[in-house]
Amino acid sequence: MSTLEATSTSAGLFISFEGIDGAGKSTHIESLAQAFKAVGRQVLTTREPGGTDLAEKIRHMVLNDPMDAMTEALLVFAARRDHIQHCIEPALAQGKVVLCDRFTDATFAYQGGGRGFDWAVLTQLETWVQTRAPDMTLWFDLSPQIAAERLAGARVPDKFESQPVAFFEKVVAGYAQRELAEPARMVRVDAFGHRDEVWARVMLAVQSRGYL
Ligand code: TYD
Repeated sequence: MSTLEATSTSAGLFISFEGIDGAGKSTHIESLAQAFKAVGRQVLTTREPGGTDLAEKIRHMVLNDPMDAMTEALLVFAARRDHIQHCIEPALAQGKVVLCDRFTDATFAYQGGGRGFDWAVLTQLETWVQTRAPDMTLWFDLSPQIAAERLAGARVPDKFESQPVAFFEKVVAGYAQRELAEPARMVRVDAFGHRDEVWARVMLAVQSRGYL
C-alpha cells in the first residue's frame, strides 16, 4: 500500500485540549496541527462551544449573556450535540485527525467545578450527548495565579475570563477529578515554563501513544 493510501484510509484520531483560561493551550493546538500535517494526515481544528454555525451562535450566548449554571450546561451540551453530529463524527469517519479546543471535560470543570452544578446531571447529559469520546485529552495544568498574570491586559476578558482566581481554583479541581476518573484518556501536561518546554511535553505525550 502506498503512503498516500495508508494515510487516507487510516482511522480518525480525536484529541481534545483542556485547561483554564490563560493556560496556553491554543498555541500548542496549532503546532500539533502542523506536526500531523507534516506526516501526511488531514487535520480538522475546531473548538467548543462552537465548531458549527449553530454551535457558534450558542457560544456567543454562553460567553456573553448572564445565565444560571444549568442553562449554561444545557446550552453547551446542545452545542456539543450539533458539533459532534455535523463536524466531529464526519471528520473522523474520513480518517481525519480532529483537534478540539475544549470538549466535555470543560463542562465538568467550568459548570461542575467552577459554578458548582450537579456532577451527576452532567454525567447523564454526557451519556446522552457524547457519542464519541476523545482518544486522548491533553489537560494543560497551570496555577490560576500564573494564568491570571498571563491573561492580564492580553485582551478584553469574556464572562469566564473575568472570574476571580478562586473560581479557577474550582475549575482546576474539576479537571483533576476528571483526570482521576479517566487517567488513561486524560493526560496532564504541566503548563508551567517556557512555551518550548511545554511543547516538548505535548510531543512526548502524543509520541508515547504512537500517534506521531
Ligand atoms: P476559550 O476556549 O478559552 O476560547 P478563547 O481562547 O477564544 O477565549 O473560551 C471558551 C470559554 O468557554 C472558556 O472560558 C470556558 C468556557 N466553557 C465552559 O464554560 N463550558 C464548556 O463546556 C466549554 C466547552 C467552554
